[in-house]
Amino acid sequence: MSRYTITTALPYANGPLHIGHLAGVYVPADVFARFLRRKEHDVILIGGSDEHGIPITIRAKKEGVTPQDVVDRYHEMMKKTFKELGISYDNYSRTTLPLHTQTTQDFFLKLYNDGKFIEEETEQYYDEKAGEFLADRYIVGTCPKCGNTNAYGDQCEKCGSTLSPDELIEPHSMLSGEKPILKKTKHWYLPLNDYQDFIADWILKGHKNDWKPNVYGQVKSWLDDGLKPRAMTRDLDWGVPVPLESERGKVLYVWFDAPIGYISSTQEWAEKNGKDWRPYWQDENTKLVHFIAKDNIVFHCIIFPAMLMAHGGFILPDNVPANEFLNLENDKISTSRNWAVWAHEYLEDFPEKQDTLRYVLLSNAPETKDNNFTWRDFQTKNNSELVGIFGNFINRVAVLIHKYYGSAVPQLSNESDYPELKELSASAKEISNYLYKYEFRNALNALMNLARLGNQFLQTQEPWKTIKEQPEKAKDALFVSAQIAAYLAELSEPFIPFTSQKIMEGLNLSRHSWNELENNAILLLSGHKINQIPLLFEKIEDEAINRQISKLEESKKKNTMTDITVAPQKETISYDDFTKIDLRVGTILEAKKVEKADKLLQFKIDTGIDVRTIVSGIAQSFSPEELVGKQVTVLLNLAPRKIKGIESQGMLLLTQKPDGKFSFITPDNEIDNGTEIN
Ligand code: 2FM
Ligand code: ZN
Repeated sequence: MSRYTITTALPYANGPLHIGHLAGVYVPADVFARFLRRKEHDVILIGGSDEHGIPITIRAKKEGVTPQDVVDRYHEMMKKTFKELGISYDNYSRTTLPLHTQTTQDFFLKLYNDGKFIEEETEQYYDEKAGEFLADRYIVGTCPKCGNTNAYGDQCEKCGSTLSPDELIEPHSMLSGEKPILKKTKHWYLPLNDYQDFIADWILKGHKNDWKPNVYGQVKSWLDDGLKPRAMTRDLDWGVPVPLESERGKVLYVWFDAPIGYISSTQEWAEKNGKDWRPYWQDENTKLVHFIAKDNIVFHCIIFPAMLMAHGGFILPDNVPANEFLNLENDKISTSRNWAVWAHEYLEDFPEKQDTLRYVLLSNAPETKDNNFTWRDFQTKNNSELVGIFGNFINRVAVLIHKYYGSAVPQLSNESDYPELKELSASAKEISNYLYKYEFRNALNALMNLARLGNQFLQTQEPWKTIKEQPEKAKDALFVSAQIAAYLAELSEPFIPFTSQKIMEGLNLSRHSWNELENNAILLLSGHKINQIPLLFEKIEDEAINRQISKLEESKKKNTMTDITVAPQKETISYDDFTKIDLRVGTILEAKKVEKADKLLQFKIDTGIDVRTIVSGIAQSFSPEELVGKQVTVLLNLAPRKIKGIESQGMLLLTQKPDGKFSFITPDNEIDNGTEIN
């Protein structure tokens, strides 16, 4: 038996949870914790809300409320969602608790007093009007890479580039709109470089084979670049205050305080339950496992471990099984574009279907690469796998036992005739092996294989036929089927706990440890009376799915309307430059598709001067027939170019919407061809 401390990334309390969070972190962590408890390990599953950091203050500013209002609202909401989904936290805390402030400040002071920080004065952007230093997120300007005028000081969300505030063109403060100045400020840096060699040894040498390649790879690339000191304090007013008398107005970096939240949440749990938190964080025999998504890898594999080492006395993670991202209908999940399935809305729209969501998210878990959730797949998995295979088997077994044997499990005549009985403990072992390796999809698949086996067994045995002529055979078939059903009840618990519980009650069965299950236990003795089994899974109709799809289509429509980002102005040109451009009104005489080019249309245009050929890449917006006779704007004196072997003698002027659709620039009255535009 080992001791396990399992942590789940503390979600920012600035918005609701979506399926990406659940698939990447919370459902797998819960499966793991539930499984280990059944294995009789000493397990705590630790979570909480991350209530500091810029995402919170931005949200509060947008809504005109205090950061505390924001975190109060979303902390409660997330806590409720986790509970309803059966995430079996031993403790779910929050980082605005006094206990957390205390623990974090003590941690900082220990490092400070032990001389683990470098104190440094640097120049940072400051908003004189607002009287505040500006976090990177609070500086907006033009992206040097793509021209987006709304890029943030740390990132351009349009082209995805990582930026630093001094790279922005024309930076201005989001608080006042003013141009920020550079001002000196003092901060405390953790010299990550001091821990570089140790981390390289620990992870690159020590965990090459048992950590996921994506995690290992990211750590390696950070180490290859060389670790640098990182500031652990910030000039902000929302966060854990820096516990130094001289330093009013500074707080600890949110990535300093948040992972310490795992420790303070453990302390809170210990206090409530009369336990000692220390062994869970300080005993070498404890396995610490961080469940996170891939954007948190550096914090959990490098920065937090360096903090723990600097402090001393703490264990380091045994594994960090970070997942990739889950997409939705082939598009990145995005809060700002409302492209998400929100967990609380799911729970309202599909009450009592927590297990369906858990099941679908696990079977699509983005374990080794980004993965995709679609509503159609959700429906298929529910209807053909959960209803058609799993639910159907359990239901048939129960119905037949009630019908033929007055609810009592029948007698088995000869065990050795049924190799299926050996498959039961083999399944338990197989699932266990996968789960210890964090292979949740494989584990779930092994569980479903047992349900498939059950169905096939019933199908070949056909007790509904043998019951008359060969009653002993029918009894055997239902005895064996009852054991399979019981194993499914037991083994499904980590994955679909609500359903598992219903079957346990239906079969009138009490829980066994996983080790018993791995040891050929017969769970239902003959004569054992079973109860009624309620409906386990319900078919999901097209209507419900279509409603969800329309919801997403609504978001898509709104996004296309608001997605228009206006490109910045180009370099100034002289009037003479402008007069060089020869723009005329022309009429389309002919239009046809260019062979073997889906995007191109070939035109004959009457330009008033001549009739010429122009090729244009707009075939996906128009059919050629509808264009004949249309008046358009033509750039006449563009140097001719060959496109797919056809010489294009000029250019048609068009606009393009964000959804890709083109429109012509057409005079609003009919006008002579060849008329100049200026
Ligand atoms: O990325 C996030 O949502 C962070 N709030 C995760 C914090 S994890 C931990 F360190 F608390
Ligand atoms: Zn950009």
